[in-house]
Amino acid sequence: MKKIKTAKGRKISSIKWIERQLTDPYVMKAKKEGYRSRAAYKLIEIDEKAKILKKGQVVVDLGAAPGGWCQVAAAKGCKVVAIDLLEMDEITGVTFFQMDFMDDDAPDVLIGALEGEKADLVISDMAHNTVGHRNTDHTKIMLLVEAGYDFAIEVLKPHGAFVAKVFQGGTETELLSRMKKDFKSVKHIKPPSSRKESPETYVVATGFRKTSG
Ligand SMILES: C[S@@+](CC[C@H](N)C(=O)[O-])C[C@H]1O[C@@H](n2cnc3c(N)ncnc32)[C@H](O)[C@@H]1O
Repeated sequence: MKKIKTAKGRKISSIKWIERQLTDPYVMKAKKEGYRSRAAYKLIEIDEKAKILKKGQVVVDLGAAPGGWCQVAAAKGCKVVAIDLLEMDEITGVTFFQMDFMDDDAPDVLIGALEGEKADLVISDMAHNTVGHRNTDHTKIMLLVEAGYDFAIEVLKPHGAFVAKVFQGGTETELLSRMKKDFKSVKHIKPPSSRKESPETYVVATGFRKTSG
């Protein structure tokens, strides 16, 4: 049986995290169903609402580790190209790069892995470690979302889709109006598996209107 260390010396936030992991039904479900993260259910639930994943699609997963979203997309029969700062164990059907998506080279590395194809879907669950300061956290995540968006509109096929984690308050007005021009539909979806107390929500844009070329 696993033993949990005494609370002494641990930060309150990490004690809370452990307590949550032990009681969270999605953590238990993920273990039982073989998903690497409870985050897998967020993509499953977004897909139930927005119907974005289809067999044979080309998907780019930004901020993929430990790989729950990749597992969900690969199980649907999608070809996945993924990137993360952290290592990720192999998944059949997934080409993975361990690198910083904000590196100048990263977009070209991902485009190279698409082997001349365009993507049907770009999904981003990228997030930095939050500092607890609302404005700083919001600014940081928006930089990741904007970089993901600029990449998405370069690689998406017509009618393609973009999904990204944003923080509450949603997507910034300027980016949102760009999205509304570039996509037929733009919504925010907070999947039931996203913890109520978490400020995260997801912007889901479908029906990409143009090609980059
Ligand atoms: C919430 S986790 C993703 C969980 C994943 N969707 C899953 O289902 O397992 C967020 C990930 O974003 C990654 N990340 C954050 N900033 C990044 C960056 N600049 N480039 C690449 N990955 C990044 C983190 O390393 C982390 O693994």
